[in-house]
Amino acid sequence: MRTEWLAETDSTNEEARRRALAGERGPLWIAARRQSAGRGRRGRQWADLTGNLYTTGLFVLDAKPGEAAQLSFAAALAAAEACEAVIDRERVRLKWPNDVLIGGKKVCGVLLESGSAPGGGLWLAVGIGLNLASHPRDVERPATDIAEEGGVLSQDAALERISSSFSAWLERWRTHGFGPLRDAWLARAWGIGEPCIARLQDETLEGVFADLMPDGALRLDMANGQRRLISAGDVFFPGIPG
Ligand code: BTN
Repeated sequence: MRTEWLAETDSTNEEARRRALAGERGPLWIAARRQSAGRGRRGRQWADLTGNLYTTGLFVLDAKPGEAAQLSFAAALAAAEACEAVIDRERVRLKWPNDVLIGGKKVCGVLLESGSAPGGGLWLAVGIGLNLASHPRDVERPATDIAEEGGVLSQDAALERISSSFSAWLERWRTHGFGPLRDAWLARAWGIGEPCIARLQDETLEGVFADLMPDGALRLDMANGQRRLISAGDVFFPGIPG
């Protein structure tokens, strides 16, 4: 696996985008000790805290952006497996769409970005931020880190585990499609069958998190009998602590 460590960059996703537009076709994992402009999902910032992992895998695929988006589940699974190597696996869960939680608190986030590769195909940047040594203090979105949970995982070891595990999931996805990823994700799902509040771009819905659809959408069953398939948004589970 080709990996490259940078002392500092603005965002490893942005660095991957620059490299892709300059003709890099990967697979390449770019990692930074520090990020000055880390990006989170839905236009949020991703904090730069000492000792955490900031990394982006760059790939060029023969796939449409919607299909490649399924690989965000592969990224979450790879990060969960890295956590499971050092933390009691019963405490490691996945929250839709691709947060990794330990004991209900967020330890890792995933941000996928893509575009047309200059040499043909789709470049895909698989951005992963894993809290190894510290975590943001946010009341609305409780977070944690590996050290806080009693685990020991260095930046280098985390990158090695994540990159090799992601390769294995990518291979399964290429051979068998989304099915194996969906099964593995569901086996670790946080909040399935639980009351759920889904915050979308311009509406907030309440229902029960009923299933993960074959394309990665969340199925929300509402009290009025309606079923909504949610492809983008934030979900909260008021009934379970975290
Ligand atoms: C989220 O909001 O949960 C996604 C966070 C993704 C953060 C990672 S850190 C490495 C990569 N570079 C970025 O700018 N973002 C991703």
